Amino acid sequence: MDKLTHFIHIIDEEIQKRSFNKEPQQLYQPLNYTLGLGGKRIRPALLLLANDLFGGKQALAIDAAIAIEIFHNFTLIHDDIMDNAPIRRGHPTVFKKWNVNTAILSGDVMLVEAYKLISTCESVILPEVLKTFNKMAAEVCEGQQYDMNFETQQNIIIDDYLKMIELKTAVLLGASLRIGALIAKASVADVNHIYAFGQNIGIAFQLMDDLLDVYGNPEKFGKQVGGDIISNKKTYLLLKAKELAKHQLKKELEFCLSSKTLSPENKVNRVKAIYSQLKIKELTMNEMNHFYNTAIAHLDSIEAQNEKKLVFEQFAKGLMQREN
Ligand code: IPE
Ligand code: IPE
Ligand code: MG
Ligand code: MG
Ligand code: MG
Repeated sequence: MDKLTHFIHIIDEEIQKRSFNKEPQQLYQPLNYTLGLGGKRIRPALLLLANDLFGGKQALAIDAAIAIEIFHNFTLIHDDIMDNAPIRRGHPTVFKKWNVNTAILSGDVMLVEAYKLISTCESVILPEVLKTFNKMAAEVCEGQQYDMNFETQQNIIIDDYLKMIELKTAVLLGASLRIGALIAKASVADVNHIYAFGQNIGIAFQLMDDLLDVYGNPEKFGKQVGGDIISNKKTYLLLKAKELAKHQLKKELEFCLSSKTLSPENKVNRVKAIYSQLKIKELTMNEMNHFYNTAIAHLDSIEAQNEKKLVFEQFAKGLMQREN
């Protein structure tokens, strides 16, 4: 079994072991439901991989890894309310299965559980770990607010989008790696490079997420395909199309974005037809590859065994070719 698969197994086992059998059930059931539906577990896996890269002990990093996964799942539960998303990991979202109040409060208590676990780090590194965690958590909220603001703003450009996804998505990948490296007591230079690797992979990861939202296979994606188009999300795809569409195509795009009568299905199909004429998929993949390459350059600068670094490269490559 390769190292990555091994770590993901460990994370799955730990999450199962730690299931929340507490009262009131209405508060804790959604936690077990969401965490139990799996997901790719990439953030805790990155944390454990970074810890391993710099010679850290797994036993000292596992609580932080679970904290990161619980934090991520908390953001998803709230994100699904904000995005009015019906499906997550192939199952109804928490606010659909229960209700919005449950999703808010269960999300809140997950954040607390994440803090409890992150706080168990060794005391010498705890201040730095908490600083990283707090900065990241605030930035995710900032990114999510920009994401919401942008839905109704017309003058958003690609640079705004890149800043927004760096905040809502990339900093969590960066922080996962940074915390793993801090627990292993890596050098300051290496901690910074591994963070930058995660940040760039994270931006590429969100570009891929936006692509899958349009072109994913509904059976494998686990989320509603077309959701971003339906809610006028200012994704890279839409912003690039707005930038490139001229004449009739521009009018067609403006109509799709502003029409109150178009059915969601027609809207998705018509916007996809515009994307196809403008080769938006290819352009988005180019942008994704650009961030992927920057990430690999940071990986190259890290002082560690090449064999261990190769695992990161393979992992990152896998994320760019994923189907969910
Ligand atoms: C979803 O993250 C949220 C984004 C940042 C796009 P993942 O795609 O990692 O979701 P799971 O945990 O594997 O379900
Ligand atoms: C996810 O962005 C960012 C966070 C959850 C913080 P999306 O809204 O694109 O994520 P999905 O597609 O719902 O997983
Ligand atoms: Mg969202
Ligand atoms: Mg969403
Ligand atoms: Mg998405």
